[in-house]
Amino acid sequence: MKNIAIFASGSGSNAQAIVEYFRKQGKDPVKLILTNNPKAYVLERAKQLGIESVVFTSEDLYHRTTVLDILQSKQIDFIVLAGFLWLIPTALLKTYKGKIVNIHPALLPKYGGKGMYGMKVHEAVVANREKETGITIHWVDEEYDHGDIILQVSRPVDPTDTPEKVAAKVHELEYLHYPRIIEQLIS
Ligand code: GAR
Repeated sequence: MKNIAIFASGSGSNAQAIVEYFRKQGKDPVKLILTNNPKAYVLERAKQLGIESVVFTSEDLYHRTTVLDILQSKQIDFIVLAGFLWLIPTALLKTYKGKIVNIHPALLPKYGGKGMYGMKVHEAVVANREKETGITIHWVDEEYDHGDIILQVSRPVDPTDTPEKVAAKVHELEYLHYPRIIEQLIS
């Protein structure tokens, strides 16, 4: 089985769902959780799950080999972005070519790009009275929310839905589909 590293910048509920999905099958491929945010709740989740975590700086990611060295020392084969808000540098993309996936909480190319993440996406979806929203799982390239699409799943948005309600619907889709797609991609 391949070794997975998860990059997250915030709460980390997707990271937890992925770890638990595999553990239910007696598997434990997630070896490392990495974050750029020392205050991210994902660090607490990593502790509770008993998974090693690493906090790195932008220097570490963009100007040193620190992050790459850590990934290689842990023999990481596959990288999962789960609410990670920084671009992946070219050196990492080259080393992990075709092995980095992301999830976006909207139907790309709508509501993607720099600054479009988490609740900001759902607020925009509600403000624009969209009739549907959903998730996009895609390969990662040099641009925000841009690589080839692996899966999109949509859900209706009701006229009375608040951004929080939309977020809850989207999270439900994320927890249902992201772990199983990752499983398919690594097997
Ligand atoms: C998720 O909804 C994920 O799709 C989104 O951030 C949230 C993180 O939640 N990612 C992006 O917006 C990336 N552009 P989590 O930390 O609870 O998993």
